[in-house]
Amino acid sequence: MPTTDTRTLALDATSAADLQATGLEYTLVSADDAAFEPFLRAVSRGFLGEEPSADEVESARRALTPRRLTGVFDRAGIDPDSPVATVDSWPTELTVSPGRTIPLWSISAVTVAPTHRRRGIARAMLTGELRTAAAAGFALAGLTVTEATIYGRWGFSPAVWASDVVVDTRRARWTGPVAPGRLDFVSPESLPERLSRVHERVRVERPGAVPGWEGRWRGVAGLTPDAKDAKKVRAVSYRDTAGEERGILVYTLDSGPHGDFSPHVLTVRALFADGDEATAALWRFAIEHDLVGEVKASLQPTTPPVQWMIADRRAVTVTPTDHHWLRVLDVPAALSARRYARALDVVLRVEDPLGFADGAWNVRIDVDGSAVVERAPEDRAVDLEMTVGALGSLLLGGVRVRDLAAAGLVRGPRESQAAVDAAFTPEVTPLLDIWY
Ligand SMILES: CC(C)(COP(=O)(O)OP(=O)(O)OC[C@H]1O[C@@H](n2cnc3c(N)ncnc32)[C@H](O)[C@@H]1OP(=O)(O)O)[C@@H](O)C(=O)NCCC(=O)NCCS
Repeated sequence: MPTTDTRTLALDATSAADLQATGLEYTLVSADDAAFEPFLRAVSRGFLGEEPSADEVESARRALTPRRLTGVFDRAGIDPDSPVATVDSWPTELTVSPGRTIPLWSISAVTVAPTHRRRGIARAMLTGELRTAAAAGFALAGLTVTEATIYGRWGFSPAVWASDVVVDTRRARWTGPVAPGRLDFVSPESLPERLSRVHERVRVERPGAVPGWEGRWRGVAGLTPDAKDAKKVRAVSYRDTAGEERGILVYTLDSGPHGDFSPHVLTVRALFADGDEATAALWRFAIEHDLVGEVKASLQPTTPPVQWMIADRRAVTVTPTDHHWLRVLDVPAALSARRYARALDVVLRVEDPLGFADGAWNVRIDVDGSAVVERAPEDRAVDLEMTVGALGSLLLGGVRVRDLAAAGLVRGPRESQAAVDAAFTPEVTPLLDIWY
């Protein structure tokens, strides 16, 4: 994991000056002092949430202490100590190939008060985050988004898709493997540690994934003061025949539309499986659960393995959505982090209005799948031209050049598109299994 303490990095001078020119103050907020509570209230209001209770403030304070919190203040307002805009960020790592990771500047809690919208505050905050991240040596920034229309203008683009999956259990009928290990119920109190342990093993093998954190697991377990349906949380653990815990399923049950005795809905809060055995064991448990007519799970692969484990594939409805958005800040570092499927020698011309990734880049991939990326010599012809967003989408191989070219986001001959597609094909389909 990256060791940089990003909380102590200086605020971006350009954004500070831009905000100051409109009478606003750009300030770092510490989770340890009195400024934290109005910061959290502003975040909650921005996401249309309720006012946090004292317990919720303390729980969030613990969870957000490692993060860099930045507020924008309008000191001329009636409540000058409440920020009119917020953002938080922290250093984490992104899995780029099984067993390989790269530092990632993660961004969250982007809000602007409805009283201060459309004055360029989000622009100042986002570009400030990117300049600070790049200056600190991060090759990539990332976020998960509630609205898909905002971040493209700053070079973020979807790189990883995830699906909502609904299984009609009355049609499904299990035909998949029968796992040889065992299932046991486990207590919600034990979940943060169990989820963290299993997820750590899973996420380093899955391109697109990032680590979770204690507050995230406590929320899944229903242990935070703001956790939804806390009293309904149930969990089972799968252990293999050697006694090793390989998977955890956390879920809630709700009665169906026709009352208590109608088929229930089982909603998955987390299903983390280290290996095929655990995947089959946990999905079978959910699908064969008595009195359940429907299983719902989000953040699943776009072609979920469970559809190959049941007799009627049409019992599964899959709704994919863009999920993990990436922004390339350093082209050589970002592209040389992962392994590739084929040798390649191309020049990619990247257009980046913010400058970080702009230029022509020679990408040379060896037969062993490792890449060297350098500025292309002036006399080398460009093979493909693309926006920085397109480059972010292609990075993990979760999106095909061919599809972006059809949309005009990549330009160049079909042979070059095919060569890049072949080289960028991932060993494992990218997935991000949490929100951040
Ligand atoms: C989305 C939000 C952060 C934008 O803040 P803002 O300060 O009004 O944005 P800016 O004035 O800096 O606008 C920057 C650009 O984004 C555009 N924009 C702003 N909000 C937008 C939205 N909701 N949808 C699409 N475009 C939007 C602006 O038109 C402007 O476009 P331009 O670059 O072409 O000029 C703010 O409206 C907000 O807090 N919304 C509620 C919380 C939320 O949705 N957060 C995002 C979480 S992923």
